[in-house]
Amino acid sequence: MKIFLTGASGLVGSAFAGVAARRGHKVVGVVGGFEGKIEGVAKKIALDLADEAATSGAVLEAFPDAIVNAAAVSTPEACEADPARSQVMNVALPAALGRLAHHLSARLVHLSSEQVFDGARRTPYSAGDPTSPINLYGRQKVESERAVHAAAGEFAVTLRAPLLMGNSAGGKRSLHERLLGDWAAGKTAKLYTDEFRQPCTAENLAEAMVELCERRDVTGVWHWAGAELISRHALGRRLRDHFKLTEAQAPMMAVTRSETPAAAQRRQACLALDVAPLAGKLKTRPQTIAEQLGELTVPAPVRAWYFSQT
Ligand SMILES: NC(=O)c1ccc[n+]([C@@H]2O[C@H](COP(=O)([O-])OP(=O)(O)OC[C@H]3O[C@@H](n4cnc5c(N)ncnc54)[C@H](OP(=O)(O)O)[C@@H]3O)[C@@H](O)[C@H]2O)c1
Repeated sequence: MKIFLTGASGLVGSAFAGVAARRGHKVVGVVGGFEGKIEGVAKKIALDLADEAATSGAVLEAFPDAIVNAAAVSTPEACEADPARSQVMNVALPAALGRLAHHLSARLVHLSSEQVFDGARRTPYSAGDPTSPINLYGRQKVESERAVHAAAGEFAVTLRAPLLMGNSAGGKRSLHERLLGDWAAGKTAKLYTDEFRQPCTAENLAEAMVELCERRDVTGVWHWAGAELISRHALGRRLRDHFKLTEAQAPMMAVTRSETPAAAQRRQACLALDVAPLAGKLKTRPQTIAEQLGELTVPAPVRAWYFSQT
């Protein structure tokens, strides 16, 4: 099928393009400022997705069977820094894509986030639980879900994704890339021992998303994540061990939420997602941390530093 992919240069979008192409789909990929090649993108379009008329024109010209929305202002910090831009990218854009999907009878796969929840409880959130965002990013994601499903109805499916691992196009986006970047710069990584996440890789998420393009019978809002809940500090240790770095080469400081009360108010303590309902429908499996680590490569920006250490 022909898939119109926004955010093709992002962590998830670039993984999606590779997986979709390997499964025989043709990907028309939209980038913003990214200039490099993206594996799996048959046709690359540079476009400002904040421009609704230009976005509509590109979608209508492509006339896709499916639209996948992996474009966003994708961190809470970036949303707070520019609320107007993030409102356009995180809410107005998905709403417009929802209207286009409905108009074209195209499948729409939209990405939301674990951060629609406040993280105040330890038990996994189900997709039907009431949302409770504690930051602008989470509020915009909730709004985007409502807008997408109001506009596209049964054509749309939303996946709420967790903290992501994986290899990004620029090598600076995902968790291990940022950690290795800090260590290469001589910084000590401060990681919470009492903040828990259920990470998965962008590649694994992309496998689920490609299946959802093909599975029009799955509609509504669903959760996807890895198979294990882990603290940020424990994950940092697993990453340091995986890349065979010593404590001196890759320094970490364990911190707790009570030591940083102001920051803790803006951060969720535990974001566990119930993935069983969607896992029961898909061939893609939630991965263990060990399986995820096995996919990670040394990112290009820190390669010189890394190979001088090992
Ligand atoms: N990363 C995570 O840990 C995580 C966790 C849960 C959910 N999610 C969600 O998953 C989705 C994908 O996230 P990600 O981490 O892959 O994002 P990302 O790496 O930050 O990539 C964002 C993408 O959006 C594009 N973009 C932003 N503004 C644009 C504009 N005005 N015009 C055209 N393109 C624009 C960027 O293009 P250029 O770079 O070419 O400008 C890039 O391709 C998002 O909805 C995010 O909220 C992410």
